[in-house]
Amino acid sequence: MPRPAAGGSAAPSSEEEVEQPLAEDAVLDIDEIRRESDVDAVLDRLDVELVGLLPVKTRIREIAALLLVDRMRSQFGLSSSRPALHMSFTGSPGTGKTTVALRMAELLHGLGYLRRGHLVSVTRDDLVGQYIGHTAPKTKEVLKRAMGGVLFIDEAYYLYKEDNERDYGAESVEILLQVMENQRDDLVVILAGYKDRMDDFFRSNPGMSSRIAHHIDFPDYTVDELAAIAGLIAAEHEYVLPGDTTAVLRDYLEKRMRQPRFANARSVRNAIERARLRQANRLVSQPGASVTKQQLQELTPADFLASRVFTEHSDRQSDDDTSGVC
Ligand SMILES: Nc1ncnc2c1ncn2[C@@H]1O[C@H](COP(=O)(O)OP(=O)(O)O)[C@@H](O)[C@H]1O
Ligand SMILES: [Mg+2]
Repeated sequence: MPRPAAGGSAAPSSEEEVEQPLAEDAVLDIDEIRRESDVDAVLDRLDVELVGLLPVKTRIREIAALLLVDRMRSQFGLSSSRPALHMSFTGSPGTGKTTVALRMAELLHGLGYLRRGHLVSVTRDDLVGQYIGHTAPKTKEVLKRAMGGVLFIDEAYYLYKEDNERDYGAESVEILLQVMENQRDDLVVILAGYKDRMDDFFRSNPGMSSRIAHHIDFPDYTVDELAAIAGLIAAEHEYVLPGDTTAVLRDYLEKRMRQPRFANARSVRNAIERARLRQANRLVSQPGASVTKQQLQELTPADFLASRVFTEHSDRQSDDDTSGVC
């Protein structure tokens, strides 16, 4: 868990008074600095909590290393202009973007780059008004809430509609651009959404593109990864997936992946929720009123086989999912 960075050890911003630099021959203890900043705790949590995502984890480690080095350089009085930290996270729904953004906020807080380290997650509707004069106050209110932390803008491309000159989104983008430039000491913006749409958005918004320092792509999960994620989610709720259940679940996932509105790990979470409902129903409605701890924990093949995914045509929406990116 992050804690407030010790006042003096935070990376100094341009306005802050810079501490007396260390002596030329001083030696810094990297381990101690890592411990102080909680960087390892956050990185370990990423590893344990999130299945797969190796390229993402590697990028986050690289960014963490850069920030650590930057911090140590500043202690020697070496150039320590704040590194650019605005990012874009691209990938399908349910690939872990929001979760990683939360960890990123913790990381930046631990390293002293963000004073609060919280995450404010918004979409176009939170930033852009319906009527003239409404957009600027809305966007500014969101920015105020996000200061000192990370502003996560989901499906950021909806902010800007190229073909609509009178769209108020452009006004919001203007304000965001200014704050991303002028208040980058106090706010990190992460833009998220599908990769192709985000690429288009950056093409038509060079100002935004040039302010993004790190582009991180979140790949879709494989069936193996989804099955592992199911195990994690079940364990999180103290449920057990026996071997025969896992086999059915894999079958379920393979079918579900081909259906509309499939949302990677979020669909897995929803599938487990539905299975819990079916299990509860099954246990409560069985004849005779006894149940064991094991029965209360186990999700059986039947709890998944009852899903419409197994009977529905693949062009129809499944009952096992909610829609949208969030
Ligand atoms: N690699 C993963 N391992 C375990 N759980 C994951 C993983 N990726 C996502 N999840 C879970 O799936 C859900 C959706 O993830 P989220 O970060 O909201 O995705 P996105 O923001 O890309 O739509 C969350 O409950 C999250 O904990
Ligand atoms: Mg999300």
